[in-house]
Order: sequence, then C-alpha cells, then structure tokens
Amino acid sequence: MSLMKQIREFAVPRKSVALWWLGQSGYIFKTSEGTLTSVDLYLTDSCNGLAPGMDLTRKVPVLIEPDELDVDLYTCTHNHQDHTDPLTIRGLRNKDTMCFLGPHPSCDVFRAENVETGRIVAAWPQKEMEFRDVTIRGTFALPTDDSDLNHMGFVYQFGSGPKIYVTGDTDYSDLLFSVEKQKPDIVITVINGGFNNLSHWEAAEVCGKIKPKLAIPCHYDMFPDNSVDPKQFRATLGLRAPDVAYNELEHGKPYVFGV
Ligand SMILES: [Fe+2]
Repeated sequence: MSLMKQIREFAVPRKSVALWWLGQSGYIFKTSEGTLTSVDLYLTDSCNGLAPGMDLTRKVPVLIEPDELDVDLYTCTHNHQDHTDPLTIRGLRNKDTMCFLGPHPSCDVFRAENVETGRIVAAWPQKEMEFRDVTIRGTFALPTDDSDLNHMGFVYQFGSGPKIYVTGDTDYSDLLFSVEKQKPDIVITVINGGFNNLSHWEAAEVCGKIKPKLAIPCHYDMFPDNSVDPKQFRATLGLRAPDVAYNELEHGKPYVFGV
C-alpha cells in the first residue's frame, strides 16, 4: 500500500497527533479527526544543480510522489526551494482540494503554480489561523540570507492533542524564545548549522528556553553537502536542556504523540 494511503487509513487516538517525516523539513501531521497538514514538503530533486559546486542531490527517496499527495492544509515556512518547492506544487493532482498557507513569497509560488487564489492564505508571525480542528500560529524566524527576508515558523495546535512548533530555517536570535509563551509540547528544529541555520548547539539552547517535552531534529538528512549527524544535537540537548526528551524520526514511519 502506498504511504499516502497508509497515512489516510491510519487511526490517530484522541488527544494525539501522528507525524510522518518525509525528509529535510517536510512532515505530514494527522489529527484524531483525520485532518492532514503538511509542512515544507520537498518531494522532487529540484534543488539538484541549483548551487554550482555543491552536491544537492536528493539523498532521501521520494516517499510520496507529488501527484499522489492528498492533504488538507499545505503549509510552507519560506520560499527556499527545499521548503516551497515549485515542482512539488506543480505536480499536485489535488490542488483544488487544499488550502495553501505561507508567507507572501511562498504565496507567490503557489500562484505561479496555478493554485486557485481563494485557496491561498498569507501567513506572518503572530497571525493565528483556524482550519477545521487545526489552529496555526505564525512565529518569528530570522532570515538566513538576503535571498528571502520573510522566513517564519509555525506553532500548530492539533485539536485537543499536542502543540508542535516547527522552527523553519532560522538564524539564532533571542526572539525565538518567545515561543515559550505558546507552550509547545514538541519542537521540530533545524540543526544543520550550514547557511546560517541554527547549529545543533544553538538549537539545543532554543529548546532549553522553550522547554518542550520533546525535541525532534530535522534538516540534516537530505543533501550530501548539507548533512550533519543528529547525535550531536542529542548530546548538546542533554547538556543544555536535560529535561527535554530527544527523538529522531524514521522517514515514512508513523510516530504518535499524545498529551
Ligand atoms: Fe532549508
């Protein structure tokens, strides 16, 4: 059975959310009511050859082909191609059944890929949006270079289940700590350190301030020239945020977290 079908059929217990990692910062979340939310899905090899001299060949297999993808909410944190991938969006067959949400530069990509205007929702830090049983609040992220100055993250409240903070790509800033007020149960954080993203050490500092129950590293697995060992993050988390549990997800395998 295809992974998309498995996700559609997966039963999520009450007060819980199920997560599937598809590589880099790409996840699908499922609520107990069945709502599917994706973030930063990169389901092609479109970054390959984008930066001369860098090997950005895709390492993680495409676990769901774009034309198979069927989610209710398609969210993006910023418009770098590994987060708002035009080719992934171009290939979606169910474009007209989804809501597409992201900062304005991502909305421009949605429009350029012929997503219906009425399905596009612009997001920004502190803006709160509700869709069925999912509430999404934009968070601050510090741009990592001047190719896109509209980075952000999201805090998702999944029904009566957990709250998950996805950092998006971000440089280090004390303003990231303000997410503590949202009391997220899980932080999904970049750890690669390259291209001015949080390093494993900085990510552990941020988790120490925000104090989630669980931290999940991402954005270290996809490209040969932008990979790090997540065990470094596990080690620094143990030092800087010893009360925060660590979990490394396996690509394409469900992970259920309840409150
Ligand atoms: Fe990225």
